[in-house]
Amino acid sequence: MSNQQLEEKCLENIKRVVWCKTAEESQNHYKVWSEQYDTELAIIGGSGSQAATNMFSKHVKDKINSVVLDLGGGTGTSSLFIRNQLQFQGEIDILDANIEMLYKASQKKIGFRNIIRHFVGKSGELPVRDESYDVIISTGAFVPNHIPASAIQGMIKVLRPGGLIIFTRRLEGLGDYGEEFVQNIERLCLENKLELLDHMELRHFTIQENSIKSGCFVYICK
Ligand SMILES: C[S@@+](CC[C@H](N)C(=O)[O-])C[C@H]1O[C@@H](n2cnc3c(N)ncnc32)[C@H](O)[C@@H]1O
Repeated sequence: MSNQQLEEKCLENIKRVVWCKTAEESQNHYKVWSEQYDTELAIIGGSGSQAATNMFSKHVKDKINSVVLDLGGGTGTSSLFIRNQLQFQGEIDILDANIEMLYKASQKKIGFRNIIRHFVGKSGELPVRDESYDVIISTGAFVPNHIPASAIQGMIKVLRPGGLIIFTRRLEGLGDYGEEFVQNIERLCLENKLELLDHMELRHFTIQENSIKSGCFVYICK
């Protein structure tokens, strides 16, 4: 298959997981897509994991003892980058709803402490202890039919005070989901639970003419 055909196939797969009717439908499609996910994302220029890795490099001072949760970690690309590019030596847990995506992650030499299959629901409750992570990294999982926009409140409970959440999100085209997500983050900042530390813009799918304006954000948990 030519690169152009792979690009088209990848865009079609993205549509099928994001713009489908239910999260269940999205998950069913990841089962199939997991086989080709890494190859297609590499072709289309999925740049979220790289941006998050750059932010991780800049803001996570202790690269030996920090404990990280790769949330919606999929095939483990972000974890792989922080291990290989930054020589990060701390513990990494990966959490995802999709066992096929996690299986791909498990086959890479990342050395996860825990591989957790869990579907994050509206409350954002996670099956781990509160205040047990220094960093949450999450790339590509805050879109419709993925992690609910309301989940952020519950999710950050697993961060220690002073811990960081580093995530990517699209800055355009997400409609109600995008608005709700931003409102929830703003509320957490007003309540003094989170504070914005850094952000950068990036284009998702660098090879595509119609690439999507996105951002990588770093918040500190108060
Ligand atoms: C676009 S992929 C991103 C994977 C990886 N972080 C990356 O950057 O390549 C989104 C991932 O989020 C997972 N996901 C979607 N909804 C989820 C939920 N409610 N709870 C946990 N994981 C979810 C999917 O199974 C998928 O692996």
